[in-house]
Amino acid sequence: MSLKDEIKKRRTFAIIAHPDAGKTTLTEKLLLFGGAINTAGAVKSNKIDTATKSDWMEIEKQRGISVATSVMGFEYKDIKINLLDTPGHQDFAEDTYRTLTAVDSVIMVIDCVKGVEIQTEKLMEVCRMRNTPVICFINKLDREGRDPYDLLDEVEAKLNIQVRPLSWPIGMGKSFKGVYNLYEKKLNLFTPSQRKLSDDRQVFENLEDEELDSLIGKNPADQLREDVELIEGVYPDFDPKEYLEGKVAPVFFGSAVNNFGVNEMLDTFIKIAPAPKSRQTDLREVTPDESKFSGFVFKIHANMDPNHRNRIAFLRICSGKFERNKPYNHVRGTKPLRFSNVTQFMAQDKEIIDEAFPGDIVGLYDTGNLKIGDTLTDGENMVFTGIPSFSPEIFREVVNKDAMKTKQFEKGLKQLMEEGVAQLFTFDMGSRKVVGTVGQLQFEVIQFRLKNEYNATVEFHPMNLYKACWISSKDKKQLDEFVRSKNRHIAHDKDGKLVFMAESKAWLQMVHDNYPEIEFHFTSEF
Ligand code: G4P
Repeated sequence: MSLKDEIKKRRTFAIIAHPDAGKTTLTEKLLLFGGAINTAGAVKSNKIDTATKSDWMEIEKQRGISVATSVMGFEYKDIKINLLDTPGHQDFAEDTYRTLTAVDSVIMVIDCVKGVEIQTEKLMEVCRMRNTPVICFINKLDREGRDPYDLLDEVEAKLNIQVRPLSWPIGMGKSFKGVYNLYEKKLNLFTPSQRKLSDDRQVFENLEDEELDSLIGKNPADQLREDVELIEGVYPDFDPKEYLEGKVAPVFFGSAVNNFGVNEMLDTFIKIAPAPKSRQTDLREVTPDESKFSGFVFKIHANMDPNHRNRIAFLRICSGKFERNKPYNHVRGTKPLRFSNVTQFMAQDKEIIDEAFPGDIVGLYDTGNLKIGDTLTDGENMVFTGIPSFSPEIFREVVNKDAMKTKQFEKGLKQLMEEGVAQLFTFDMGSRKVVGTVGQLQFEVIQFRLKNEYNATVEFHPMNLYKACWISSKDKKQLDEFVRSKNRHIAHDKDGKLVFMAESKAWLQMVHDNYPEIEFHFTSEF
C-alpha cells in the first residue's frame, strides 16, 4: 500500500469526558464493533474508584495496567482506528492535555443527566487551542435526563462551539424509544441490551409516513416530526468542513451501556473525521505524506520497578514511514537514536512492529534519552510545536532533606519532570525549587519515587501561589526592567523560559494593569 493510502485509512482520536460520563463504556463498545474484543467487561476502567482515591500506590499500579490500554488500535470497515486513552483521574489532567496534542480529533461524552461538567470544559479549552474537530456523544438516554434542547444550548454556551445535532432522541428515560438519524434519515428503535451489536435501522425518508405512528405511537411520532422540523429550521445544514475546522460539533444521542447510538456515531465518525493532518514545527509545516519520517514524544511511562529503570516513550508519527532499527535524528540530543524494541498496541495486545505510518502511535523502550516534547526526524533539525505545558494549580517548594544525596535528588527530580509527572520552577532569587501540579496526588508520587528509585529524601512546603505565567514582551528593555523590579517573583521553567509566579488572581490583574507592555500566558507556548 502506498504511503498516501496508509495515511488515508487512519483515524487517530481520543475520547474525553468528565469522570463517570461513560468514556470507558463507550470505548468498550467501539472495540466490540471493531471486533477487537468480543466480550463486554474486557476494558478495564482507568478510573480510580473512591476507595483508592488517596492511595496512590494503588493508583500507580492501575496506571501500570493502563499502559496496555494507552492506545487501542483496531480496524473498522477498512479504517485503521487509533484510539488514545486518557486518564480518568482528575489529578492526571496534564497527561490528558498532552495526549490531546497527539490526536487528530476527539469524541466528547456528556452525561444527559449532568450536562456539561467542569472537566469537560477544561478539556474543550485544550481542544480549541488547536481547533481539534469534536464530535459530541450525549450519553445515558435510558435515564431521565435534561431536555435535549437545553443540553445543546448548554454545550454551545459552556464549550463555546456551535452544535449541529445529527441524531435526535425520541423520548428519554422510561419513555426512550430510540433515535432518529437526521444525517441519514434513518430510525433506530431502542431495545435495551448490553449485547446487541446489530445494525437493524429502519429507513424513513418521509417522517409523515403513518407507519411511524404504529411503530412508536402517535404522540411520540408527532413530537419527533415537530422536533425534526424545528431542528432543520434552526440549525444550518451540517457542513463537514466546519467540523474539520473545529467550528461546529456534530451531536449524537445514545446510551453507551445499551450499545445504542454508538454504531451510527462510529459510522459517521469514519466518514467525516480527519485522517492524519499536517503539523507545525518551528521551521515549517510538515505534511504526513512527506517521504521522510518525523514524529514527537507526547507521553512517557516509567516502570515502577527500580531495578529496571526503563521507560516507554509514546511517539506520534507525523510524516513518512517509521522503521525499527533505523537511526533517527534526536533533535534535542547529541547522538542519533535507534530503536529495536518498538511496540504497537492492537486492541489489548502489544506487538513488536517493524514499521508504522502517520497517525500511528508507537511505544519506544527508552533508557532515559527521551523527554516529553522531543522530536525525532529522518535528518531535519526541526521541532514540533503545540505541545505546551499548562500552568499548574497547586504549588509546593521541594526541599532536599539529605545534603549527601544532592546529586541523586537533582537527577531524580529532573527525570520525573521529563516524564511529565509535574512541573518544576526554579526561583531566580535563592534558587528555590517549586513543584507545580494539577492534583495533590503527584506530591506523594514524587516523594515516594524519589526515595524508592533515587534514594533521595524530600519534603514539600506549602506555597501561596495562584498561577505560573510565562511572560514575554515585544520590548526587551521593558521585559528586563519588569524582571528586575519583580525579581522575587521570577522563576525559570525546566526549559529555561521566564515565568512570573503570581500569588493571587487580584494581584496578577494589578500587575497586568501596571505593566501593559508585558504579556502573561497560562501556557508555555504562545
Ligand atoms: P467513565 O469512564 O467516563 O468514568 O465512565 P464509565 O464508562 O465507567 O461509566 C460510569 C457509569 O455510568 C458506569 O456505571 C456505567 O455502567 C454507567 N453508564 C455508562 N453508559 C451508560 C448509559 O448509557 N446508561 C446508563 N444508565 N448508565 C451508563 P457504574 O455503576 O459506575 O459502573 P458499573 O458497575 O455499571 O460498571
